[in-house]
Amino acid sequence: MAVSAFFALNGGAQDKGKGELDQWIRGMIGKMTLEEKIAMLHAKGQFTSAGVPRLGIPELQSDDGPLGVREEVNLDWSPKGLSTDSATFFPNGAALAATWNPSLAFRYGSALGEESCARGKAVILAPAFNIARTPLNGRTYEYFSEDPFLNAELAVQSVRGIQQWHVAACIKHYALNNQETQRKFVNVTASERALREIYLPAFRAAVVRGGAWTVMTAYNKFRGTYCAENAYLLNTILKKEWGFKGAVISDWGGTHSTVASALNGLDIEMGTGKPYNQYYFADSLLAAVKNGQVSSAAIDDKIYRILWVMRKTVLAKDSTRAALNTASHIRTSYDIASEAIVLLKNDAGLLPLKLSKVKSIAVIGENAVRTFQKGGVGAGVKAKHEITILQGLKEALGKNVSIRYAAGYKGYYRKDDPVDKKIAGHRPLPELIAEAVKLAKEADLVVLCIGGNRDYETEGEDRANLDLPFGEQQLADAVTGVNRNTIVVFTGGAPYNLNKLHAESPAIVWNWYNGSEGGHAVADILTGKVNPSGKLPFSFPVALEHSPAHALHSFPGDSLEAPYKEDILVGYRWYDTKGIASLYPFGYGLSYTRFAFEGLKLSGKDFRPGDTVTVTFRLKNKGSLKGKEVVQLYVSKENSAVSRPLKELKGFGKPELAAGDARTIRMSLPVASLAFFNEKTMQWEVEEGRYTVRVGSSSAELPLEGSFFVHNRK
Ligand code: BGC
Repeated sequence: MAVSAFFALNGGAQDKGKGELDQWIRGMIGKMTLEEKIAMLHAKGQFTSAGVPRLGIPELQSDDGPLGVREEVNLDWSPKGLSTDSATFFPNGAALAATWNPSLAFRYGSALGEESCARGKAVILAPAFNIARTPLNGRTYEYFSEDPFLNAELAVQSVRGIQQWHVAACIKHYALNNQETQRKFVNVTASERALREIYLPAFRAAVVRGGAWTVMTAYNKFRGTYCAENAYLLNTILKKEWGFKGAVISDWGGTHSTVASALNGLDIEMGTGKPYNQYYFADSLLAAVKNGQVSSAAIDDKIYRILWVMRKTVLAKDSTRAALNTASHIRTSYDIASEAIVLLKNDAGLLPLKLSKVKSIAVIGENAVRTFQKGGVGAGVKAKHEITILQGLKEALGKNVSIRYAAGYKGYYRKDDPVDKKIAGHRPLPELIAEAVKLAKEADLVVLCIGGNRDYETEGEDRANLDLPFGEQQLADAVTGVNRNTIVVFTGGAPYNLNKLHAESPAIVWNWYNGSEGGHAVADILTGKVNPSGKLPFSFPVALEHSPAHALHSFPGDSLEAPYKEDILVGYRWYDTKGIASLYPFGYGLSYTRFAFEGLKLSGKDFRPGDTVTVTFRLKNKGSLKGKEVVQLYVSKENSAVSRPLKELKGFGKPELAAGDARTIRMSLPVASLAFFNEKTMQWEVEEGRYTVRVGSSSAELPLEGSFFVHNRK
């Protein structure tokens, strides 16, 4: 074996020839035939690639994430129907982001990692955290947020949590996978600044700080080249700049070439649906090595990476005892769910429920009885249990309150039916509405459970618009028309058009595809057992046309080209900079208590690039209930030499304060985090000059302000 050439190809990202691990890997590679190596580089089952049994190297087994460990499937993706593969259903990615709580992200990762380990997986295909560039993206629910800083903090903790169980996180989808329309062909172009400042930071953090062991490439092209054969993304940035030591895995069916993919950074080709020897990384890769198009050193580099991942995971030296569906995992799922729910509106003090006054509740809307563990295309979970909203409410209130249910609408949606696809958003069912109205009239209070579902928001297609589906708007109009005491519980994973609901309903609770314990979490928020503390991870625009990609007509792109014309102005960066009000801004969410922010102090007036600014202020809970507040810190640069968003999130925290309590909150702001990416020098640079810090409870509610000066010269 040509050991000398070993590290040359991918920029020397490996452990440099030292230690037992390195010796073991090299030894193993030395014993393998070329055919055995090639077999390890492509799928041999839905979620497996080959091992080398004679050398004790097992298959590499993976599974989806991110909602929990997916059940075992047959080659046609149908469930195997085992009795051993049920798992905990965790709230969707945007729900996790709505907690703004990195310690919950760690617990999520840890629980998911333990369940993956218990199911014998070396790799879990999670977390997924592409930026929410457009509200219509079918996978918005699966991803985290519209902000790179928030994404990064959550990604790092999720990865660390997963990997402590000797399971590799597979962070996805690298990179710029921000729409499902033509996802397998679309060519994304974005400036270097947008790439570095918006789309890559969370991936970088997950690799550099989180230490992710595997990465999944995205389906789309970036600057004309598929992500699975994109030398710039894979070799230059991921492996060389970030020093990524693990394996790059293609998305399923996302490989398009043999030689280019092999040379440009892909390590394993995964997919489905054709004989495995016909994969690009099967017979044709063997031929390419034999005819000298791909060097054996390049193959060895891939095997090195895979064996390295195996030694961290299935071949780790210490044994791990892991279990599925434990009480602690269910608790984690509940804690995320209850911290993720966002109180959007609470006029007239309807919430928390005043149980002395409420004797009868009409629970209306199919989402009250629907489960969200599965649906649509892509990863779901066979949850051991999932509490529906109706169940949760009955358990919490059923003894003292009469609860009656009416469906009100039918969340029926067949995406393969062209007629249904067109009318799905506009089909009120009059008889169901009439039944719901009757119940609403007779009840003291209505809990209206509407929203999307996992068939409607799905991988593989983007939504057509922000309208409420299934005639829900007509249902809401009719119900609120006969009973003003209507609390809307909207279950969804992405922004919808809530303008009319906002105008006509006194209380709106934003719920997610909220995991095994979702119904308990909703009930506990409504009764006040839990004080809402979730904050929106993305802006809700007043109108779709206001949102950047749509305002600039660069979604879904034209002729398979998607130029990201909004550049760095994604999400609130765009709305703020352009002075466009959103219906609910990024970071927004109400509480049953009132928090006051006072007395901002900075640790100095003048700083240099290596310094850290300490920001302190007083947070007071002025209400009568204990509560958590997401304190948010944004920074603006005045008179910048480059275009800048009006402000950017640079810090957050989530303290809990008892009623009447006050606390001094301290936040660290490294001056280095103020850098912009200079496209001319291809470096991060901290610009000299004055910066303004703003602190508050949402991107639009920032009562505290202070400023400091950064000096660049020594
Ligand atoms: C998705 C991935 C997923 C893979 C395997 C693809 O369609 O994009 O996120 O991990 O399928 O199920």
